[in-house]
Amino acid sequence: MPAFSQTDIDAIGARAEVMLNALGTISSEPDRLVRLFLTPEHRRAADRVAGWIRQVGLAVSEDALGTVRGRLEGAGAKRLLIGSHIDTVINAGIYDGPFGVVAGILAAEHFVRTAKTLPFGIDVLAFGDEEGSRFPATLASSSACAGVFKADNLKLADRNGVTLADAITAYGKSVDAIPAAAYRRDEAAAYLEVHIEQGPVLEARGQPLGVVTAIIGQTYLNVEFLGEAGHAGTVPMLLRRDALAGAAEAMMLGERLARETKGEVVATVGRMSVAPGATNVIPANVVIVFDIRSGSETARARLVEELRAGIRTLAEQRHLGLTITTTREVPTTPCHPYVQDQLAEAISAVGGEPSRLGSGAGHDGQAMAKLCPIGMLFVRCRGGVSHNPMEYANPRDLGRAIAALIGFIARFDPTKLD
Ligand code: GLV
Ligand code: MN
Ligand code: MN
Repeated sequence: MPAFSQTDIDAIGARAEVMLNALGTISSEPDRLVRLFLTPEHRRAADRVAGWIRQVGLAVSEDALGTVRGRLEGAGAKRLLIGSHIDTVINAGIYDGPFGVVAGILAAEHFVRTAKTLPFGIDVLAFGDEEGSRFPATLASSSACAGVFKADNLKLADRNGVTLADAITAYGKSVDAIPAAAYRRDEAAAYLEVHIEQGPVLEARGQPLGVVTAIIGQTYLNVEFLGEAGHAGTVPMLLRRDALAGAAEAMMLGERLARETKGEVVATVGRMSVAPGATNVIPANVVIVFDIRSGSETARARLVEELRAGIRTLAEQRHLGLTITTTREVPTTPCHPYVQDQLAEAISAVGGEPSRLGSGAGHDGQAMAKLCPIGMLFVRCRGGVSHNPMEYANPRDLGRAIAALIGFIARFDPTKLD
């Protein structure tokens, strides 16, 4: 187990912070951070990451979905996959996603520098579609690596009507090459991701690092209401078929049902499109997307069923056309006990208590778990704030996380997972 002094930890944390700030400048908008999947900004961020990977001495490649891969050979055929994402939400912070990529690069560099051949290879992966901010489905990049990419998703369109298939082509890639992005099951030993916690638990416990036990399950419901456009001044209230009023009632129903679970399920509508979208026209077509999450599969399924039934009833009462489509359905994903225990030891070795906690946020590990055992290391972030430009993790904690990741790699034994 490599020993790190406080100075080493601070130095590596400071390097990580510089890299995160550099990636944080790559945005499609001048005043806020927006970096969507398969856009020119994604290209620029991928190139920056590829440059760093090359600099630390790893071979670089890129697959059909733009995932950047840094490859370090080991003595055996098994590979430890370490990654996270470089796409962002709209008006993002700089840590969510990029820190896991930067941590992987700096940890791999440690083993290049020490010139010690590990018994397994390492792949550092920078995925491009974790946030789902561009297309209605998400995790396309990690699903391709895991060999579970759904070809149907190629037809999904972004807000401008560009399909995922067209975006892949415009990015200079070929949809025919997607199957080749998949790892073989016998080569992928485990997938590991380092990420800011995005919640307040570690800060409250006074711990810089934590071991994730599971990533909670998620359902996305795309709900489309079809009403009738009409004059806002002339059509009497009782003769209207207002799609937005129906959507508003559906949102209130989702909020009420989730509140009634007393914390077991959370439900959010963060996205809505209204057409034709004019002040003096009754809305004719509205799409809202529910993001529903819970650590309990039964509680989530129950809420989804009640919500669907309630929305059907209110749409009938309002004489609205209705289409409900599930665009995401991910079960609660446990982290492997061996990976959890090894992470706990690695945290203890850098001087922290290995606190265990669940992840309320989604991660690429949800897709990678279909390929191999997964694990996650969380880093505390200020106030638990994320998906917000105020997101912050202090560089000393970043350094501790990278030191713990290096310790994990040094003690990792793929045969313990067979
Ligand atoms: C990604 O951050 C998600 O949890 O939606
Ligand atoms: Mn993330
Ligand atoms: Mn996120």
